[in-house]
Amino acid sequence: MRFYDIIQKKKHGEELTAEEIAFLGKAYVDGEIPDYQMSAFLMAVLWRGMTDREASLLTLAIAESGDTVDLSMFGDRSVDKHSTGGVGDKTTMIVTPIVAAVGGCVAKMSGRGLGHTGGTIDKLESIPGFSTTLTREQFIATVEKVGVAVIGQSGNLAPLDKKLYALRDVTATVDSVPLITSSVMGKKLAAGSHSIVLDVKYGSGAFMSCAEDAVELAKKMVAIGYDRGRQVSAIISSMDTPLGSAVGNSLEVKEAIETLSGRGAPDLTEVCLALATEMVALSMKKDKAEARELCKNALENGSALAKLKEWIAAQGGDANYISNPEKFPVSAYVHEIRASEDGYIYAMDTEQIGISACDLGAGRASKEDEIDHSAGIIILKKTGDKITGGEVIALLHTNKKDAILAAEERYLRALTVSAEPPRHAPVIFGTVRMGKDGEPALTH
Ligand code: URA
Repeated sequence: MRFYDIIQKKKHGEELTAEEIAFLGKAYVDGEIPDYQMSAFLMAVLWRGMTDREASLLTLAIAESGDTVDLSMFGDRSVDKHSTGGVGDKTTMIVTPIVAAVGGCVAKMSGRGLGHTGGTIDKLESIPGFSTTLTREQFIATVEKVGVAVIGQSGNLAPLDKKLYALRDVTATVDSVPLITSSVMGKKLAAGSHSIVLDVKYGSGAFMSCAEDAVELAKKMVAIGYDRGRQVSAIISSMDTPLGSAVGNSLEVKEAIETLSGRGAPDLTEVCLALATEMVALSMKKDKAEARELCKNALENGSALAKLKEWIAAQGGDANYISNPEKFPVSAYVHEIRASEDGYIYAMDTEQIGISACDLGAGRASKEDEIDHSAGIIILKKTGDKITGGEVIALLHTNKKDAILAAEERYLRALTVSAEPPRHAPVIFGTVRMGKDGEPALTH
């Protein structure tokens, strides 16, 4: 089989066979297909698309390209969540203790930040002592004892996705529905949980620009999951503004603690409750109203916050930082950004705000870069808020004095200010679940 012929076939929009997809997956992981050929193939997929059958086969090729995690000891109680990526998305640190507090069983692998989006592993590592590299036995024992464990992606989990994703990132081929579907679901199938709740983002900080595209993507992922014997639901949520008010690693941990203390921003709290409810409903077989009540109670009665402390301590972290968040180091410079005019914030370019936080030290431009855990942005005014010229609208936290001016300019350019407020748009657009007819459907 020649990869050249497979590229030709996809260029002409033809459907690939199971053998061809299995061949390209294996040959690429084994280093037999050069990146320039795979780049051409990915661009052909981006333009020509893939049939559902092809996307399902590519998902399987990714899931089976390396190690898989056996969570069968938890029966069908294990549950995972995955976000398609965002700015200020600290939901894992809030949702997983809520689910564990009501008796759920969360065995989760998370990623690091790259580009303008943050990663849960970097955020958790801002807690002194917290280990994201447990042995398999420690991982399982922590899930059994505490109800939640979160570790970094093991070296050989879905290596085909690792290689493809790195190439997509630099060849402008990320925003393809079949490629995102196979990337996300390939990893989730390999990670072993029986139930999977997806947070599919749309808007200025997400890969999908509108809610309708996000729904299409979610339906494909839900269908593939059920096809492989898993239960999958997807929350469709907006990334037209950063989620909550903090962007940056330890700043986000502090916001997660605030949220679990009942003082969370409304948008963040709503997304977290929706995700936790879905996870409890799927994995603990509760109806939605009961699941939501359980999650809301765990948030309000302090049991989810107590669970966060227990979980952090179980993975070696200093839980005193959770009880006393003022212990987290603060950056050397905290710079106030002031509004230049009166009006309403009409829109925010979330991607640019994410880049601004990275420039302050919160993210990395390449995999080798060091993260500054204290750096980032506290957003004081968001879309829909009234602002007055001279008023402080955001705080830049950084240890890099030289980065402040450019980050401030980028932040201000990311805002659209108008005389009239924008129409209110809810943070959650809807939920995609598998219908009784075997077809994924959206409910609002
Ligand atoms: N997140 C992933 O894991 N893969 C993608 O392709 C996009 C978002």
